[in-house]
Amino acid sequence: MHKPIYFDYNATTPLDSEVLEGMLPFLQNHFGNPSSTYSVGYYAKEAIELARQNIADLIGAENGHIFFTSGGSEANSTILKGIAAKSSKKKHIITSAIEHPAILKTCHYLEKHHGFEITIIPANSAGIIDVDDIEKAITNKTALVTVMMVNNEIGSIQPIKEIGSLCHKHNVHFHCDAVQAVGKIPFDLNNLQVDSLSISAHKIYGPKGVGCLYLREGINIPPLIHGGSQEKGMRSGTENVAGIVGFGIAAKLAQEKMHYNFTRIERLRSLFLDKLHSEIDDFSINGDIYANVPSTINVQFSGIRGESLASMLNELGICVSIASACSSTSSKLSHVLKALGKTDDEIRSSIRVSIGALTTEDEINELVRHLKHSVMRLRSFSPKYQILV
Ligand SMILES: Cc1ncc(COP(=O)(O)O)c(C=O)c1O
Repeated sequence: MHKPIYFDYNATTPLDSEVLEGMLPFLQNHFGNPSSTYSVGYYAKEAIELARQNIADLIGAENGHIFFTSGGSEANSTILKGIAAKSSKKKHIITSAIEHPAILKTCHYLEKHHGFEITIIPANSAGIIDVDDIEKAITNKTALVTVMMVNNEIGSIQPIKEIGSLCHKHNVHFHCDAVQAVGKIPFDLNNLQVDSLSISAHKIYGPKGVGCLYLREGINIPPLIHGGSQEKGMRSGTENVAGIVGFGIAAKLAQEKMHYNFTRIERLRSLFLDKLHSEIDDFSINGDIYANVPSTINVQFSGIRGESLASMLNELGICVSIASACSSTSSKLSHVLKALGKTDDEIRSSIRVSIGALTTEDEINELVRHLKHSVMRLRSFSPKYQILV
């Protein structure tokens, strides 16, 4: 099989070779259990603490406030269920219509099984929520507001600073899912009134199955997983040492390369859009492209099915995501595109292209060449398109 041309960096990223190199010794020689009281164990423990420091530096946190988890989903569940467990009187959660299922499904679980009331804040056509809507929704029963920093499907950036100030004014916990923001846009927790934040390593060229939860000083919640009291009792279970080491290196590299990658990706996005405009008719971008992170482009091609287009591209060795589905394993239409006000037909004719650090100009040219051909072919079979033109 030829090396695929990869345009799905929001789904996951390839492991950076420096990350792999740093991890390997911890899968072989340095295999100690970090809780052991002899040198092989200490060595693993030290490596974990170094990784914790790198991640804290990346987001402007103190290292003692980072708790390793198995990824973004676990970090989100830990905080949502943890806050819920502590809140016997305040049983109201506010979230947005465009959150990742790791947040939305946890909210629905808390609604169904623990009597929480959930308020879902709508997004505008650019996929951005209005801070005033959150203010109107806050009551004296609100335990938590949870809003993502960057959306995974369209790349819209939320007004996190304003939401944080609002929540603090009302004394409400503010959680932010920053899985798609870290390494893509710079932010410093010292300037944001965020109480907790989730990160995942595999979105920043680190390994899968590792992430972390940041908890601001003074925030105490019960753990999701009980046992040997690793991670100061916040997350029991023998640590994924190699994974954590890889995460730490990925965080360090993300910090060093953030500006370079951002500018490069912005240039590649312009190239992609220019080429699309010159080569293909009748397409539009979902959301407001210039209000988004440059790495995510959600495109709608009228008269075709995004699913068929993605499948044709796959046969040509090009990986893009089907924007219409809530997840690759679900046939439910994307709740994010719905929240933007898109019709079912518009959602079904969309795909998501996400660009990353390894994307090249040649790959963009190849993508547009194949897109043009595939879109034309699909439109030639499409009675709907014949009617449209
Ligand atoms: C915004 C967002 N939150 C959470 C997650 C879940 O992260 P993980 O795969 O590490 O569980 C993802 C993964 O796609 C995501 O995009």
